[in-house]
Amino acid sequence: MNHQPIEGFSRLTKQGKIDWLNGEYLNGDKTYEHILKQYWNDNPELQKLHDEFSENTISNFYMPYGIAPNFLIDGKLYALPMAVEESSVVAAASKSAKFWIDKGGFKTTIINTKKLGHTHFIMDVEPHKLQHFFNFKLKKKLFEATEDITANMRRRGGGILNIRLLDKTAEMPHYYQLKASFDTVDSMGANFINSCLEQFGKTLKEEIAASEDFSMQEKESLQVVMNILSNYTPDCIVRAEVSCPVEDLKDDSGIAHEEFAWKFKQAVTIAEIEPYRATTHNKGIMNGVDAVVIATGNDFRATEACAHAYASRNGKYSSLTHCTTDNGIFRFWIDLPVSVGVVGGLTNLHPLVKFSLAILGKPSAQQLMSILAVSGLAQNFAALRSLVTTGIQKGHMKMHLLNILNQLGATEEEKKYFVSYFRDKTVSHHEVIDEFNRLRTQ
Ligand code: MEV
Repeated sequence: MNHQPIEGFSRLTKQGKIDWLNGEYLNGDKTYEHILKQYWNDNPELQKLHDEFSENTISNFYMPYGIAPNFLIDGKLYALPMAVEESSVVAAASKSAKFWIDKGGFKTTIINTKKLGHTHFIMDVEPHKLQHFFNFKLKKKLFEATEDITANMRRRGGGILNIRLLDKTAEMPHYYQLKASFDTVDSMGANFINSCLEQFGKTLKEEIAASEDFSMQEKESLQVVMNILSNYTPDCIVRAEVSCPVEDLKDDSGIAHEEFAWKFKQAVTIAEIEPYRATTHNKGIMNGVDAVVIATGNDFRATEACAHAYASRNGKYSSLTHCTTDNGIFRFWIDLPVSVGVVGGLTNLHPLVKFSLAILGKPSAQQLMSILAVSGLAQNFAALRSLVTTGIQKGHMKMHLLNILNQLGATEEEKKYFVSYFRDKTVSHHEVIDEFNRLRTQ
């Protein structure tokens, strides 16, 4: 069927949008409308709140919201809120938390909290001349022109940390940047940073136009291309680590502790040198990071983009975690660049986000950075622990069993039967189906 484009979709009511979709894409089949409406919230105000988070909304898309308890982080016990659709992630986090709780728990260090943004511009001018103008005139004007925008942030202890002019002409003709660093305290700061940068773009144009240092030709060559924060924040970074004597690495699979430590370290080294493995290894880390990022109302696309850019910083994609086993001490850590907020954005709006922040004890942005790094490290520890011992499928498929049974339409009684049937063996998709069919036909 050939579909027709639509004008003014956003102006249709919610029902109008659904009717259009029904007619255009579902041949008038109303079953899907019923499904959409099942997910509407009974409370119209709450529904409206969610509708207004985004645009053209017609329903809600649920994500399971789970809790991973027993995280000892810097001497304090946390229960981590995790919004994630993948089975095993919350269980893996909880298992790691339990493993480390009697070994001193997780220790974190905030290495830096600097965020970055750029005004990207083109100007056909001698770099030294522009640099001189920047040093002696423009820089001061940029700070002055943003005083109103930064007033509140400065009161909270943040603001613009520095502004530099970067000559990028070797990479692209006439390309320069105003590169600014910011401290956004407890907010993620995207709006604040972008507002400052847009003002930089305006001030740059005004000051160049008014300056006597440049010829008319130079002035006319100025084009501000864009003003935007960078989601790559290698200087907004936290370290989380665990350590213990190798002999304390007891694993219920029965593997000897030296062998476990050796294999675990090999697995990390493989992820450090082999991008194919590093991608999956880091994906597992982000299972833990993103679940808490989402539960706390932060932007998981930003955390993903930043983590992977950082993982490639040396020109080859590599592991975010590292491991040593020197002098009989197993040490495992992550350096995670991550920019998040605990005020602003969804944090004040989404009731479940407020709940998440409440159970985390209303953390500062820095504490949340620590919690996120720990969640990623814990997830990676659990994944590698399984991978180098029993393999990932044993635990994963056990968690996935209920999904398979739900797809088959199993009753509660049948589910109980299957949990006990697979108690001591690895779940396989075909075995569930064979056994399910046998049960139903006997
Ligand atoms: C699955 O979502 C994540 C893992 O593949 C991570 C890993 O292999 O390290 C288990």
